[in-house]
Parts: sequence; structure tokens; C-alpha cells
Amino acid sequence: MKPIIAPSILSANFGNLAAEMDMLNRSDADWIHLDIMDGVFVPNISFGFPVLKHVSRLTHKPLDVHLMIVQPEKFIPEVKALGAHVMNVHYETCTHLHRVVQQIRDAGMQPAVTINPATPVSLLKDIVGELYMVLVMGVNPGFGGQKFIEHTVDKVRELRELLNQTGSEALIEVDGGVNLETGARLVEAGADILVVGNAVFSATDPMKAIWALKNL
Ligand code: DX5
Ligand code: ZN
Repeated sequence: MKPIIAPSILSANFGNLAAEMDMLNRSDADWIHLDIMDGVFVPNISFGFPVLKHVSRLTHKPLDVHLMIVQPEKFIPEVKALGAHVMNVHYETCTHLHRVVQQIRDAGMQPAVTINPATPVSLLKDIVGELYMVLVMGVNPGFGGQKFIEHTVDKVRELRELLNQTGSEALIEVDGGVNLETGARLVEAGADILVVGNAVFSATDPMKAIWALKNL
């Protein structure tokens, strides 16, 4: 099975987002990954809802919204208003994760939970049955273009086993440090969706880079 490719616009040219979105629309990208940061949960700030309101109107591709913010449940209506397909919250930011997952589903979106590099896969045992997707971070969240953490491949394998054991049909997404080389190993380990920022937007031909990832 070919992986779902979700380019992250974090590494796009923010001075010309309309052109970047046009390129993504014409590419083999399946989803568009949107990284929202608050400078609290992660040491960086990206963009917020006033910007994304306009970006979301520039594509018909499904939006995968990754919230790297504290108290993400406060923004369920705003994420919904973007027309998001998936709302991704971090395990580390939700004390009442089960409730937040239900709230996302009740709002009409697909719930996904993200785990940081230091968060074990085993902590998801009691929630995977409720999830559309699990996102395994391949770097510490906050910045594009970081070096891939090798242990992520083992975590994807372990998560695939957990999903098999529990009968969960959740998809596995990986975000951070994905390129042709790491992407191939992640798909082999069981990843369904690859988020790619730097490896697309720093490529001389971004459309070709997306095509190559799709056809690993
Ligand atoms: C990192 C973000 C990622 C980032 C990935 O905090 O969640 O989505 O854009 O970028 P690359 O592919 O450059 O590692
Ligand atoms: Zn992301």
C-alpha cells in the first residue's frame, strides 16, 4: 500500500502561501498538515487561526491539524471551522484525554493523538480503540528540518503490534525528520501516513519530491 503523504506547510514560503498551496493542489499530496504552536508547549510559535482561515480556503485536500498547544480542547470550534478532517492533540497536553477525544468526534472531526519522542507507545493502550489515528513524532516538536530520532522506527513497529493486539483500526502517522530514506523504513515498520516539511519545501522540485515519497 502506498503511504498517505501529508506535506507540512511549516517549511513553506509564508510570503507566498497561495503559490505554495497551488503547488500542493497540483501535486500527489493526499492531505495538508497544519502545525499550530503556542510558544508554551513547544519553544516556537507558527501561525494561528486568522492565517489558517485563508489557507484552508485554498485547497480541497483534507486538512490534518496538529495542535502543539496547551489545552487544545479550547480550540475545537476553531479547528472545526477550518473544515479539518483530523484534529491531532498531544498526549502530553491532555489530562482528560478520553474526554477530549470524544469532544473532537462529537464536533464531527476525526480524533488523533500525538506522542512525543519520550512518551512510550504503551501509554496509548486504553485509548487506541477510540482513535482514528496515532501520530508518532520523529523529532521533538517545535521546528521543521530537525534530525530524525532513530528510535521512532521501533516505536512505529511497537504501535503496529499494539493496534493488532487490541483490534484497533487506527492509522499510524509519523511527523518530523521524514525523507525518502527514513520514510521507506517507517512504511516498512507499519506507518500509513508520512508528514513531510523540509524534505518537500527545500527540494529543488517539491512536486517531484512529493511524487517520490508517494512512490517509495
Ligand atoms: C514539527 C512539526 C512538523 C514539521 C515537520 O514540530 O510538527 O510537522 O513541520 O518538519 P520536517 O519534515 O522538516 O521535520
Ligand atoms: Zn506536525
